[in-house]
Amino acid sequence: MVIRIAAVGDVHLDDDVVGRFRPALEELPDRADVLLLAGDLTRHGTEAEARCVAREFGGLGVPVIAVLGNHDHQCDQVPQVTGVLEEAGITVLEGTGVVLDCAGGRLGVAGVKGFGGGFAGRCASDFGEPEMKAFVRTTTESAERLSAALRSLDCDMLVALTHYSPVPDTLAGEPLEIYPFLGCYQLGQAIDDAPTTLALHGHAHQGSERGVTPGGVRVRNVAHPVIKQAYSIFYLGDGLDQADVSPVGTSGTAQPWS
Ligand SMILES: [Fe+2]
Ligand SMILES: [Fe+2]
Repeated sequence: MVIRIAAVGDVHLDDDVVGRFRPALEELPDRADVLLLAGDLTRHGTEAEARCVAREFGGLGVPVIAVLGNHDHQCDQVPQVTGVLEEAGITVLEGTGVVLDCAGGRLGVAGVKGFGGGFAGRCASDFGEPEMKAFVRTTTESAERLSAALRSLDCDMLVALTHYSPVPDTLAGEPLEIYPFLGCYQLGQAIDDAPTTLALHGHAHQGSERGVTPGGVRVRNVAHPVIKQAYSIFYLGDGLDQADVSPVGTSGTAQPWS
């Protein structure tokens, strides 16, 4: 039995973009069991833009589960944005998780926005000025929330959903100088500390699709500018080992993802 997961991030919806994804999304009930949204759903995080997200991703016929991104925080309207999405039936995770009963088994999804901080040997450290300590505390607390959410779920397949990246692999293509603002190793540790099957993130528009945590969990950057399609689909199941975690194209016929 197989669980089919559609995912995309960084759709950055506003009045100019709304409607662009909907035709492909209408096919989802035939193609996937769930749609995961990896943050930066809006351009500036306004309630009006959240209503665009609700129009685009509401009422799709499959469960829609999201985390917010840094853009969704820009106007300090996170409660309003979250409220609009939840009213449209979109589940917004932040240090929380859900378990879905799919035909192929119980799918657990734990999500958090995450934060920057950098990766092994090139990361911010909890030392010096209070501002730097606050920065690192934001990173570690976010990863701790993800860890707790991942370990709380009783399921057959476990997916970690973040906006910031848990590994540097999927940042390849971005300037090295901004890696510390694109993700942090603590998210990767949280993913490795749980029986995670797959980790999905966005945020790195110029990054690359594939990566792996130090513990061997497959990581996929599903930012829309990277996948260049309305969503990617991942198959998880008993008959598939992790090497078979492979998305297919979504524009027309399914295509292998090389
Ligand atoms: Fe983005
Ligand atoms: Fe972002």
